[in-house]
Amino acid sequence: MADKKLTLNDPESDKTLDLPIISGTQGDPTLDIGNLHKKLGYFTFDPGYGMTASCKSEITFIDGEAGILRYRGYPIEQLAEHSSFLEVAYTLVYGDLPTSDQFTRFERDITYHTMVHEKLNTFIQGFHYDAHPMAILSGVVGSMAAFYHDKLDVNDAEQRELAAKRLIAKMPTIAAAAFRHSMGWPSAFPRNSLPYADRFLHMMFSVPAEPYEVNPVAAKALDLLFILHADHEQNASTSTVRLVGSTGANPYACVAAGIAALWGPAHGGANEAVLSMLNQIGSVKNVAEFVKRAKDKDDPFRLMGFGHRVYKNYDPRATIIRKQCHEVLSELGQQDELLDLAMELERIALEDDYFVERKLYPNVDFYSGIIYKALGIPSSMFTPMFAIGRTVGWVSQWLEQSSTPTRIGRPRQVYTGATERDYAPIKNR
Ligand code: SDX
Repeated sequence: MADKKLTLNDPESDKTLDLPIISGTQGDPTLDIGNLHKKLGYFTFDPGYGMTASCKSEITFIDGEAGILRYRGYPIEQLAEHSSFLEVAYTLVYGDLPTSDQFTRFERDITYHTMVHEKLNTFIQGFHYDAHPMAILSGVVGSMAAFYHDKLDVNDAEQRELAAKRLIAKMPTIAAAAFRHSMGWPSAFPRNSLPYADRFLHMMFSVPAEPYEVNPVAAKALDLLFILHADHEQNASTSTVRLVGSTGANPYACVAAGIAALWGPAHGGANEAVLSMLNQIGSVKNVAEFVKRAKDKDDPFRLMGFGHRVYKNYDPRATIIRKQCHEVLSELGQQDELLDLAMELERIALEDDYFVERKLYPNVDFYSGIIYKALGIPSSMFTPMFAIGRTVGWVSQWLEQSSTPTRIGRPRQVYTGATERDYAPIKNR
């Protein structure tokens, strides 16, 4: 069957150009514009790349209109109900759910890479006690290249896989160390006898003075949150990892750049911003005023945790987390008026034409902070939690890109500055 194409007719030159239509296994078709400039002299303009596919990928599929999210074809709802974070990590990295032997080997590999070089802990001690943990995470992860400089050949598949496992294994260790540094506590070593989420909680909250038992409700909730945050196709931080990777930079530099991008309040920093917003609103009686502010173009206030570039329906992760909020709070015997406030805010917003017309729904960040708070995790650690889960997506997407021929990423621009003019000596200015 003839390849599908879209024919462009250029009014300037009266030339026509056929743009091949590229379709994946699912999702909307895309136009291959590779010849557009050569044949017709045009570039395309798409600030924020909202309409631009930057790559082909087999890892994650999102249907924003239908509110669908699948990792390697598996619906997020099924993975949330039946899988574990490490099993999801294997699936995202290698492409299919693991057999029992494959999972045992992968879990052992991750477990035996959880410790960090002691000098890296010294690096963490050098930060001021009140340094934001995301500043520590991005700095320390970038420094990992200094500790593994002998295994940084991005053209060597084995070294790429080792770097990916090291990042998945050590991100919780570094994040927990950043938290303990802020508390003035001594560093805690990973307990390899514990499962992934349990091990993280133990590193976070155990103190030398007494034994620490991980609450299984907390560990299960955390493992689920890591699953829900693991990957999300070409979001801002993952696209950053790919862009840095396209220059041939080492994986630690790529992931450090991804951490920096995730920190922004418009992206992964939103979970911390949601809690600040809920505390700022304070009570249900103030909700209407803040919804009004969120709609006011002259007011920079936005409803944090609301809206999404891709989802124009309810974020399926938010649906799962919202349900989990009630379960975790009830199983932990806790009440949180912020959850009631968040639900009332959601109800009012979703009845308001402004949000309905713009298809603005709660996203993954709207409810996650309520659960982190219930687990005793401070809001400054909310985005590091996101980073722990998303490390799996970053390394999976980096591995996928690194194993295929890739051109360096280099967008173009529409120049709107001064046309040519001569230098003027300062005495004549
Ligand atoms: C994540 O990409 C991913 O996949 C990200 C993520 C992942 O897993 O990696 O899902 C994680 O980053 C979730 C998003 C977390 N961020 C927030 O919750 C911050 C608040 N949300 C907004 O900043 C915004 O919705 C974005 C950044 C999420 C999306 O921005 P877009 O797609 O550029 O949307 P837009 O700015 O073009 O908004 C369209 C309209 C605008 O109004 P008009 O100019 O058309 O009149 O909707 C309005 C916006 O003003 N709008 C909001 C709003 N979000 C969008 N108005 C009030 N409150 C909001 N939250």
